[in-house]
Amino acid sequence: MTGPASSHSLTSPNSLHARDIAYSLHPYTNARRHEQIGPLIIKGGDGIHVFDDSGNRYIEGMAGLWNAALGFNEERLIEAGVKQLREQPYYHNFNHRAHPAAIEFAERLVKVAPEGLTKVFFANSGSEANDTVIKLVRYFNNALGRRSKKKIIARLRGYHGITIGAGSLTGLPLNHDDFDLPIPGILHTACPHHYRYAEKGESEEAYATRLAEQLEAMILEEGPDTVAAFIGEPIMGAGGVIVPPRTYWEKVQAVCRRYDVLVAVDEVICGFGRTGHMFACETFNIEPDLLVLSKQITSGYQPLSAVLMTSRIYDAVADNSNRIGSFGHGFTTGAHPVAMAVALESLNVYEERDIVGHVRDVAGVFEERLRSFANHPIVGEVRCCGLIGALEFVADKETKTAFAQPGMLGSYLMQRALANGLMARQVGDGVAFAPPLIITKSQINDMFDRFSRALDDAYKWHREA
Ligand SMILES: Cc1ncc(COP(=O)(O)O)c(C=O)c1O
Repeated sequence: MTGPASSHSLTSPNSLHARDIAYSLHPYTNARRHEQIGPLIIKGGDGIHVFDDSGNRYIEGMAGLWNAALGFNEERLIEAGVKQLREQPYYHNFNHRAHPAAIEFAERLVKVAPEGLTKVFFANSGSEANDTVIKLVRYFNNALGRRSKKKIIARLRGYHGITIGAGSLTGLPLNHDDFDLPIPGILHTACPHHYRYAEKGESEEAYATRLAEQLEAMILEEGPDTVAAFIGEPIMGAGGVIVPPRTYWEKVQAVCRRYDVLVAVDEVICGFGRTGHMFACETFNIEPDLLVLSKQITSGYQPLSAVLMTSRIYDAVADNSNRIGSFGHGFTTGAHPVAMAVALESLNVYEERDIVGHVRDVAGVFEERLRSFANHPIVGEVRCCGLIGALEFVADKETKTAFAQPGMLGSYLMQRALANGLMARQVGDGVAFAPPLIITKSQINDMFDRFSRALDDAYKWHREA
């Protein structure tokens, strides 16, 4: 049971629950099970809390979908959106058109972005932005006359979204199975998870070297003149909050540079303070050619994503658009004025309230509380960086053996978390936390106190099963 819908509300045809079941196909949901249990209907929020239609309050330990950095009722963002709707509710930026909100936000974003990124293209979602990356990589290489340099290397367990292109970059079976993905030209190299995949006694650095060598071998085997780009999340999010081994990014970048393979960084989750820097590129010393942003760009209040690029890429794309007559790519609601206004105000709030400084200030308590679960009998690994973290559960800590029925314990734990007034995210037999960035130290303690009770319940259930 995911939601607290009463059987009455499910059978009463006019209830929100029944109408939801009647008309909606939900993303990332077992549709048949949903018909039986119905939705958990969230009606609003207050800071880091959300509340359901029965009045139950939950700490939103995932900031929604890793995005509501400023919580669930930030007046400044609401006002910015309303004001923009009054002033200019819609215009687009196709065909030499522009509007003030997009001009202003593009300038601010490029100025705050990692050095070397000089132009931005706007879309509506992380998936659209990653599809845009694939297309920019192709267009760029065609512009340079390198017509065979098109392959993109992503990683197993990476997550880049679900459209045909972005879903192909994603390296999770659930996103490929029965969707006939990935498309040709997308390859997947190893997932950089030291706990799971390093050899016995292998240091993080040695493991990172081995992964970089594997990447290089893949590029050489495919032919460097066919490999155009490498894409990765600085920390893998949906794949389980995998913090890469020390020196990983430096080594991977060096390999890419050696073969003129573009480095595309997907900061859809990490961007705007999550790791304790404005961008995780700073946290991991990455110098991206392409940078993908979304989610916290508007604190989730408006759909928006952005692809930032170097002058080298922009110039080739610009020349090619001149040769063809136009850059044949764009979304009707890309750079939507309301999204631009909310994004601009989000950036204002991040800067005025020093949200990045706040994340660094509270990250110690977050990490300490998360690491305190390391001694729990079923916690195999604790992973953490800034205000993103995860626990991985194992049946046997010595051998790191996973549970015989994957996901069962995680599902039960999520039910217990809800019953204790906490939303977290199940990742296999693990749990991820990415609370709103405004969370305070005492709220972090409250969050993990609730989680601790849920974990004890789940452990008891597991032992009795
Ligand atoms: C790293 C990363 N990239 C891309 C996406 C896809 O974004 P969207 O769901 O907005 O298409 C996500 C979504 O969680 C993500 O975590």
